[in-house]
Amino acid sequence: MARRDRTEHLIGLLLGTEEDWPRAFEELVRRLGPVPDASGRPHTLETERITIEPFDLRAVPRHDVVIDRLAYWYYVPREWLKKAALMDDVYLLNSPFTFQSMEKHAAYCAMIRLGLKVPPTWLVPYKHPVENARWAYTAAKYNLPFDLDSVAAEVGYPLFMKPYDGGAWVGVSRITNPDELHRAYDESGERLMHLQASVEGYDVFARSLTIGAETMVMNFRPDLPMHERYAVSHDFLSPSAGSEVLKISRLINAFFRWEFNSCESLVRGDSVHPIDYANACPDIAITSLHYYFPWAISALLKWTAFCAVSRRQPRLDLDTARYFDVADREDLSYSEKLSLYGDLAEEYFETARYQEFCATSLASLDSIVRDWVSSPDFDTLLVDTVRATYPSFEHDRFVAHFRGLIGLWVADNAAV
Ligand SMILES: Nc1ncnc2c1ncn2[C@@H]1O[C@H](COP(=O)(O)OP(=O)(O)OP(=O)(O)O)[C@@H](O)[C@H]1O
Ligand SMILES: [Mg+2]
Repeated sequence: MARRDRTEHLIGLLLGTEEDWPRAFEELVRRLGPVPDASGRPHTLETERITIEPFDLRAVPRHDVVIDRLAYWYYVPREWLKKAALMDDVYLLNSPFTFQSMEKHAAYCAMIRLGLKVPPTWLVPYKHPVENARWAYTAAKYNLPFDLDSVAAEVGYPLFMKPYDGGAWVGVSRITNPDELHRAYDESGERLMHLQASVEGYDVFARSLTIGAETMVMNFRPDLPMHERYAVSHDFLSPSAGSEVLKISRLINAFFRWEFNSCESLVRGDSVHPIDYANACPDIAITSLHYYFPWAISALLKWTAFCAVSRRQPRLDLDTARYFDVADREDLSYSEKLSLYGDLAEEYFETARYQEFCATSLASLDSIVRDWVSSPDFDTLLVDTVRATYPSFEHDRFVAHFRGLIGLWVADNAAV
């Protein structure tokens, strides 16, 4: 049966080592039951953990939606995802067509053209040559010798040296003088690096997690241990900075078609500086997100249900010209541009249709989530995850810590 006529939808989960959110997601799909579409026809959702095996390029996948957490480092599923996107219209969170070719560096380029306040950033050639028989001849002919110190002086100290496509803080260093600069560059080896001016003395590190049409802006403290990085706080940004972080996050996600992504902005006074906007496989572990975990899992379920049941069309192509038409206008101020970008982003995410779907077809979901998060079943998930994450002498302490934060979420949401 053609996908558009189906009322049974399979959601594939492409997973690495994680157990916590997949268990949460699978349980909530079970508890949710059939979901009516706009005409009242019931649709059923099922989940499946996808296994890796040989595949026929002409085989038709059984999945309507796939949530991918693996393809950024494992290329067999990545190539399967590309086939499923190009040939079968499977809806992907995220599509490798946007995330493998458009990473941190591409996001900086787009954001600069769109007029955002990305700190001064340069790309420098590799320290060590790429392995290729043609390198010696090409480099001798075309590689200009360059003065790393003068690039750094142009960027200004202190600065950050970090991989152009980085993640997980690998190869990131803060540099305050030429000695540190040369040491870090020598160590960078075959990694391609950016030099980026440091945003010094920022007031807030805002990390925003976007899942489809929903975004949560959180107060992030990168220097603390993982379980304390996300503070539970609600009014940590001025209304204007808060709305700017939100608009920029949604803009970049809509621009690149990233539907499951976390973005990092450093906020100094009322100025918002985006520093890392490309995280294809954002951390949503219960031991990191704690209080925000129920929100993240509900948003993931709402968005996948919306995509499957309302047959949202996956898009491989970008619409850059429409954004750049706004970006390139000289008669518009920064905030006027943000507002026009906001319209494009809401159009891409079909925010109004999504909200209508949540209010009608998923009207019971919030209370299902509340009941489940307060249940012994959820507590078992929490305890299992703590046991799998921390050494045994820390189990009691962390179980108590996370129970406290989840209890706070239950209390805050019961009050609503
Ligand atoms: N321009 C900057 N100004 C100030 N701090 C910065 C800047 N760039 C990076 N940092 C700091 O370095 C950290 C790591 O940088 P970045 O996020 O770009 O790398 P990453 O490898 O993507 O890390 P992660 O996976 O933790 O997001 C940031 O969380 C921030 O604390
Ligand atoms: Mg980062």
